[in-house]
Amino acid sequence: MNMAKIFGRIGDFEEMTIRPGWTTSETTYDKVDLSVRLAPKVRLTYPFIAAAMTSVVGETMALECARNGIMAVVPTQLPIDKAAGIVSGVKRQEVKRGDLEIVNEPEIINFKGTVGDAMATYERAGHSVIPICDRCSELKGLYCHREGIPADAMGVTLAEALENAGDSANPLAGVVKPFSMRSALAGTDYCIDGTAAPEVKERISGSRNRCMPIVDNGGVLRGLAFVYKHDGYAVAGAIHTYNWEERADALVKAGADVIFIDASQGTSDYQLETLRGFKKSYPDVPICAGNVVSGGALKSTSGGPEAVDVYKALTDAGADMIKIGMGSGMICLTTDNRGVGRKILRALHDLSNAREKSGTHVPLIADGGIGTVDPDYDKRAQIKRSMRHDTRSINLSLAFADAVMMGSYFNMFDEAPAPNEPIDGKRYNQSWGEGSFKAQSLARYGLREGVRRAHIEEGIYTLVPSIGRLKPGIERSALGVAMTLSNVGAHDLSEYRQMCMIERS
Ligand code: IMP
Repeated sequence: MNMAKIFGRIGDFEEMTIRPGWTTSETTYDKVDLSVRLAPKVRLTYPFIAAAMTSVVGETMALECARNGIMAVVPTQLPIDKAAGIVSGVKRQEVKRGDLEIVNEPEIINFKGTVGDAMATYERAGHSVIPICDRCSELKGLYCHREGIPADAMGVTLAEALENAGDSANPLAGVVKPFSMRSALAGTDYCIDGTAAPEVKERISGSRNRCMPIVDNGGVLRGLAFVYKHDGYAVAGAIHTYNWEERADALVKAGADVIFIDASQGTSDYQLETLRGFKKSYPDVPICAGNVVSGGALKSTSGGPEAVDVYKALTDAGADMIKIGMGSGMICLTTDNRGVGRKILRALHDLSNAREKSGTHVPLIADGGIGTVDPDYDKRAQIKRSMRHDTRSINLSLAFADAVMMGSYFNMFDEAPAPNEPIDGKRYNQSWGEGSFKAQSLARYGLREGVRRAHIEEGIYTLVPSIGRLKPGIERSALGVAMTLSNVGAHDLSEYRQMCMIERS
């Protein structure tokens, strides 16, 4: 079979391990390709998707995900005009691969600071090149961070820079080779404000960094120029399986790259009706069905219960992707309160089998309980003090799924719209499930949904540690995935799904 193999009984993520394969010089972690094509015009640099949750995706999160080669799904609970406004806002700012991107007010480091200050700025902001300026914004040097090593872009070798950096309390001035207008004029590591775009691009391609500082004639920093490396800005929007038409229309008109059906149970007649109705109106817009957890589901008919082939039913109705998971989310009370759901790895294995049998390839997206671990596990805890990011669950999911959708993972970043609060000197972000009473009171449910839901809480409200900006966070996770692909010996995610062998720990 052309899919990952599992040995032994399938359990939770912490019970399973990935068997290493054979690494070649072509599959070292820096060479593997983590990109995923979800639809003909939607390619993400990393297989990560921010969940359609009001505590996770707002304007800032949607834009930051798009800028960094991943995708956020705008939640259904937001009013239609707000949701469509977020999508059109992202698309308006879109930069295409190879375009010049100018950041006018980049993050800077003060020349009087220490190496430690610069490293802290890198950790917080995630930019691999940060200009060092004096109080008058005059450029003094560039602080670079390559493979965890602080360096100077203007002529000092990495080895020298590391030696100079020594103690993080050392002054930055001792690490960087000072920028001087005279020597810089002869060099290639900067551009004077007003330089034509093609020349800036040419200089960037000839420089060691993917970026170029722009200074005026007096050496004052005017901006940083980059050549954009991702495939445009991707953003998605979610719809319900009822009263979906107006929202779908607004999202499509706003430029949504994908529409996600947001239903806790995707095995229903409503799901098929929504898929067919949507595809009739928007045949070229990719739609993701879900959520489902099994390759087959029983349906009541006049002749008695009949088994439905879930993968076939959804794809025949027009699904371009299928989202998998029920009851496994960090903030999810569905299984606790109602007994319904399935272990995510088991569900992924089952759907992956169904896909394999079908001979077609519709991307599968794993959703719920991925990307975070909570060592002091208590689902209902009001503060998840020890929750942290985790790559193991991402890697195990990607053995079957083309991409992972994560909620709590993204909730921990500064870009999440949920309020942030300090407790005992540490910062926490508020976090709530879409089925929590908190989300229900925020949302503008239709009467039918409001009445049905108000009696059963299906998601928790909690606080999760606040861990800084998205960019360094997803780059760390991507590195973790890349290292696992390298262990398995796979060039890319598709080969990884074929080669992965999983067994009980
Ligand atoms: P997480 O990544 O573990 O936080 O799980 C995120 C996923 O949980 C979402 O993409 C939804 O599928 C699901 N979810 C979001 N809100 C709720 C809820 O209130 N109850 C149950 N599941 C939820």
